[in-house]
Amino acid sequence: MKVFLIGFMGVGKSTLGKLLAENLKLPFIDLDENIESAEGVTLVEMFEDGGERDFRKIETEHLNQIIENNESFLLACGGGTPCFDDNLYEMQEAGIVVWLDMPVVSLVHRLKEFKAKRPLIAKLDREGMIDYVSGLFSKRRRYYSKAHIHFQVDEKNSDDFLLLSKEIEAYRK
Ligand code: S3P
Repeated sequence: MKVFLIGFMGVGKSTLGKLLAENLKLPFIDLDENIESAEGVTLVEMFEDGGERDFRKIETEHLNQIIENNESFLLACGGGTPCFDDNLYEMQEAGIVVWLDMPVVSLVHRLKEFKAKRPLIAKLDREGMIDYVSGLFSKRRRYYSKAHIHFQVDEKNSDDFLLLSKEIEAYRK
């Protein structure tokens, strides 16, 4: 089984993804980490050197390699992964695509703490962040909404991954 977790920055794809993968007995892969360790540079450096365009090219290459070289996995994608090239189509064809969704106001709140490692928002102040996140989210929603499963993350519910595991199992049958 190949499971792809998509959704906006800060929604918790990596954290929830690890718990889900363990529960579903699938190897966990984090696309951003996979890119950083294979390329030997951080995402921040990559954006500084080649800009977003180069990063997207590399991201697509890594995504395709992971799909080709692995029988089964749960992949935590980057927030922009389904919105570039044919990535969304490739994922839909290869397995189950799951959108982790959360209200923009919660995303902004969570991203304030974790923006340093995220080149797209690292330099934004509070107001800039609200504008940017809500603008980008409304552009990306049309990609995210094509996922096979749409799951609303409840920040306060630590059992989310159990619920979502069941949805994924049910979808597979
Ligand atoms: C990005 C999200 C990041 C990372 C890169 C670009 C985006 O991943 O891939 O900084 O375009 O939304 P996370 O969603 O894991 O933060």
